[in-house]
Amino acid sequence: MTKCLVIGACGQLGIELTAGLRAKYGHTQVIASDIHPAKEGTQNGPFEVLDAMDFGAIKRVVEKHEVNVIYHLAAILSAKGEANPIMAWDLNMTSLLNVLNLAKDNNDIQIFWPSSIAVFGSLTPKDATPQNCVMNPNTVYGISKLAGERWCEYYNEKYGVDVRSVRYPGLIGYKTLPGGGTTDYAVDIFYKVLQGETYECFLEKDCYLPMMYMDDAVKATIDIMEADKTSIKIRSSYNLAAISFSPTELYNEIKKQLSEAEISYNPDFRQAIADSWPNSIADDEARKDWGWEHSFDLPKMVSEIIQGLSKQLGNNLSYNK
Ligand code: SER
Repeated sequence: MTKCLVIGACGQLGIELTAGLRAKYGHTQVIASDIHPAKEGTQNGPFEVLDAMDFGAIKRVVEKHEVNVIYHLAAILSAKGEANPIMAWDLNMTSLLNVLNLAKDNNDIQIFWPSSIAVFGSLTPKDATPQNCVMNPNTVYGISKLAGERWCEYYNEKYGVDVRSVRYPGLIGYKTLPGGGTTDYAVDIFYKVLQGETYECFLEKDCYLPMMYMDDAVKATIDIMEADKTSIKIRSSYNLAAISFSPTELYNEIKKQLSEAEISYNPDFRQAIADSWPNSIADDEARKDWGWEHSFDLPKMVSEIIQGLSKQLGNNLSYNK
């Protein structure tokens, strides 16, 4: 019987992954946890306030609920990490080592831990970035994710830990606002234009980045965890791709569906971070090894978000779909 613990369940991905896991395994089978108290979207099942830095606390929750699968999502992202590099390193590494050590002592516990396109850097091939290539991340977030990938592979090889990981592209969802990422413009824009405001974009208009709609991200996460153990050949982290677009392309698609939308550009320090990341990702290994397929292209994603978020915001702007 699968019994999951989601660490970081109140975050942008955590909320939606918790919902996806509860729909699949049943509400009582998924323990949501976060350093912050439960919020809407996590309250329809068990919830624990949990500090991912506290090994003893994680162990207690795992034993109390007889958890056998941990989704460890808590992290400080790229832009926020630059404001406090040592804190970002401490949180991102200590929390990962906590869950890996727990699974080292109990090999029945399976771990999911996300890596990111932030592991790549300025020397990495920019287009269709392959699984294995030069990686020279220059954000503390990217450095911690690359180090984390090495730890995952190490714990798998040395201690038999069943840890699985994907390098998420920028994740685009509307149910919760993301915090502190470089790809977050592609979420922020919907909140602004649907409230009738001009969106001031902090990246340049032609800056391409790999992106993915949240439903695809949840599917990829559950798919890799459910795949047969022997099919998981990469124990650091899999490249994972869906779509790639620039702010202008996103804006043009939004404008097609919501003619009131307006944008202006005022790039800040996050442009340098985006410049060091790929434009697009080649994810052949994920497709071959565990059958990864994405469902959302840009128009389908935009239409889902406009419809869902306008309902959530309770506004009545007219959109053309
Ligand atoms: N979305 C993340 C960020 O922008 C990248 O993994 O920091």
